[in-house]
Amino acid sequence: TVLVVDFGAQYAQLIARRVREAHVHSEIVPSTMPVEEMLAKKPKAIILSGGPSSVYAEGAPVVGAELFETGVPTFGICYGFQAMTRALGGTVARTDLSEFGRTELTAVTDSVLFQGMPAEQLVWMSHGDSVSEAPAGFRAVASTAGAPVAAFEDAERRLFGVQFHPEVLHTEHGQEVLRRFLYEGAGCRPTWTMVNIVEEQVERIREQIGDKRVICALSGGVDSAVAGALVQRAVGDQLTCVFVDHGLLRKGEAEQVEKDYVAVTGARLKVVDAEERFLSALAGVTDPETKRKIIGREFIRVFEQAAREVVAESGEEAEVEFLVQGTLYPDVVESGGGSGTANIKSHHNVGGLPDDLQFTLVEPLRELFKDEVRKVGEELGLPAEMVWRQPFPGPGLGIRIIGEVTRERLEILREADAIAREELSRAGLDRDIWQCPVVLLADVRSVGVQGDGRTYGHPVVLRPVSSEDAMTADWSRVPYDVLAKISNRITNEVREINRVVLDVTSKPPGTIEWE
Ligand code: XMP
Repeated sequence: TVLVVDFGAQYAQLIARRVREAHVHSEIVPSTMPVEEMLAKKPKAIILSGGPSSVYAEGAPVVGAELFETGVPTFGICYGFQAMTRALGGTVARTDLSEFGRTELTAVTDSVLFQGMPAEQLVWMSHGDSVSEAPAGFRAVASTAGAPVAAFEDAERRLFGVQFHPEVLHTEHGQEVLRRFLYEGAGCRPTWTMVNIVEEQVERIREQIGDKRVICALSGGVDSAVAGALVQRAVGDQLTCVFVDHGLLRKGEAEQVEKDYVAVTGARLKVVDAEERFLSALAGVTDPETKRKIIGREFIRVFEQAAREVVAESGEEAEVEFLVQGTLYPDVVESGGGSGTANIKSHHNVGGLPDDLQFTLVEPLRELFKDEVRKVGEELGLPAEMVWRQPFPGPGLGIRIIGEVTRERLEILREADAIAREELSRAGLDRDIWQCPVVLLADVRSVGVQGDGRTYGHPVVLRPVSSEDAMTADWSRVPYDVLAKISNRITNEVREINRVVLDVTSKPPGTIEWE
């Protein structure tokens, strides 16, 4: 594995993904992790990520020189580059010259990092201070107008660093520089492939579950479908898939799971109708985090019940001990499980689990990013339509109704959501758009006119976003005629809605979902 040391900026995840795109496994660790603990993971290389803008910033994390005496090849990026410089005795100058955005870089092309690339290239910068003098033993291998030493290397000690961000797409040769470090600098081999991921996971799942029974929470979404299919491949009929219809699903979702999924995987499926239970638990609740906690709690309870029934129906003594969850790596990291980053929302499949949980979790996607999950799904033979479906949050439409969740409101939102999805698909936008939540502002009303009468209805918000991994997102520039079609149809076909508005906020600062 390659350790990506997270200094608290959002770049660590992107770096980790780029490393995997080079077919090398990566793992994010907090910068507070002691060096011995890092070494215990037997890393092939260590990458120090970006972070605060300056090593002189108050509270900026310090890197001890011992990290560079371990013999593990190390690559410092941006802040990591500066922290490395200081630790090794180079000079970081406190300049007033900042560089942000696209910057011209001149590289030394007989270096390890830049070999085979043009000497002049565009890179993405984001820094205040800059390295004015490389540490002893290092060779400066690139410069820009604002950064006299924009990259350096000590090929002998296998220590490398760059001031720019190789992980962002705006850096022309960024992925190439990263590959040069991984393959040439650190001697990593490209073994992280989908076939290997599937094999490795199947092996691990078998080991974890043994001959016990396991149930899988199918939600209709991509993650649980792929997680379930992986477990099915590993332990076959020891798995029973349980599909809880919590009443917070999209239109047609239950039918889809029953038809498509079972057809492909041959999984045993148990459908539980729990709408009543969820709606009464949610009655009167408006706080987003409370909703999430309630939904998470009820979900697990329903499963425990379903598990008992699965055992009873099979007439066997064996207990169901394991529960499959489609938790992804970003969920783990965002919930603070992978680094020092703040808990932004308690994703119900991580943060909100009840304390008295009766199952041991099987989380075969815990290390994967979304794009990897989709590729694994394809590798397992799931239909493209299922694998490329929009992500849908576990708490479902419950966190897309701003205000109390009621049956009537769900019905309204379900209709509006179905129209939006249908029109986006019809326009061929499914793969351009990451997802398009439709949000019902249930406590807001506005005046309108329809037919020959005044209306006093609710607005829905369209939130189409493009994203690579849901960590950051931009609002999608959906063509006006498609937006017009969606708006027309929703206001015509859903009586209670008299206004359709578009959310044009990126993430950050907005999250993708409204709650
Ligand atoms: P946010 O709103 O945090 O969402 O920008 C990022 C991605 O995660 C999805 N999401 C969830 N998925 N359980 C899930 O399985 C949850 O509780 C949850 N909350 C948000 C969201 O749809 C988006 O794709």
